[in-house]
Amino acid sequence: MIILGIETSCDETGIALYDTERGLLSHALYSQIKMHSEYGGVVPELASRDHIRHILPLIKQVLHQAQCQLADIDALAYTQGPGLAGALLVGASIGAALSFVLKIPALGIHHLEGHLLSPLLSTPSPQFPFIALLVSGGHTQLMQVDGVGQYQLLGETVDDAAGEAFDKTAKLLGLGYPGGAALSKLAEQGRPGQFRLPCPMLNSGDLNFSFSGLKTAVLTLINKSEMNAQVRADIALAFQEAVVTVLTEKSLAALSSADLDRLVVAGGVGANRLLRQHLTKKATSIGATVFYPQLEFCTDNGAMIALAGALRFQAANKLDGASTGSFTVQARWELSQTIHNEQ
Ligand code: KG4
Ligand code: ZN
Repeated sequence: MIILGIETSCDETGIALYDTERGLLSHALYSQIKMHSEYGGVVPELASRDHIRHILPLIKQVLHQAQCQLADIDALAYTQGPGLAGALLVGASIGAALSFVLKIPALGIHHLEGHLLSPLLSTPSPQFPFIALLVSGGHTQLMQVDGVGQYQLLGETVDDAAGEAFDKTAKLLGLGYPGGAALSKLAEQGRPGQFRLPCPMLNSGDLNFSFSGLKTAVLTLINKSEMNAQVRADIALAFQEAVVTVLTEKSLAALSSADLDRLVVAGGVGANRLLRQHLTKKATSIGATVFYPQLEFCTDNGAMIALAGALRFQAANKLDGASTGSFTVQARWELSQTIHNEQ
């Protein structure tokens, strides 16, 4: 079964073809980051228009790369939410239109489901059940994943997401948008132990997170320090260490409370090198294994949506019902409330 995956929830147009027999056939991504960085953040209207410009050429590109025709596609999966409504509508409408003309089913996928299943694109891939740490620009959650569609929320951020905290702190340090990767690069020049920032909610006794206070602590530090290139790097390192410590400790606590020994890390912040080092070291010391998506599948991409669609279609064990041409998107959508509209 060949699934075309379409991701347009934010500022990346991601398209992929996934074959349930052969795995990922091809994928392509167009990032709008350059366009939005001029404004210091994503401009929703510009994002929607840019998805319109790139989505069809990217679909042609993945078909060409995989040496497939439109007629070879058995089903479609598109991101139904959460995300920017206008951006989601581009992917959903193209998905529904293709489904209508090709007379194949289309499935709306929850963006976070895509992220948390993305390590299954790599080998070795984790067996169910596992704990997933979802750390993206919009979400920070610990989930217990017992199977496809069986997700239990164990804890989440009560304010900013980890990626959001990276982006806001990067902005305070004069780095561009999105700042996570740039901050992490700057932190490599930082001197350990120069500054210590609080590790919010480290000992809260639950699996929730809070990152907005950390950003404020960085601002206070910047205001009272004599700033230069080295101090900026020192602060970046202290910030990164605080976030990584909290994410690592809470992930280990989740593993132990669920009595599981497999941890999956997904979402853009999962690309962070220090986080990977700490998690792997700490998890290994308690006999647990950590699974990461390949770096290119940490941030938004079409492959994770195609894969989630394939697993959903396989779990339902049916491929019937071509689209009537109708579709919906959900800008706000809890993963625990996933309703799947097979069209
Ligand atoms: O998953 P994603 O591509 O988009 C959302 O669904 O939000 O995640 C984007 C987030 C941004 O906040 C970005 O700054 C962060 O992931 N990010 C990083 C790194 N690479 C991307 N944060 C820390 N370290 C990185 N290396
Ligand atoms: Zn994402």
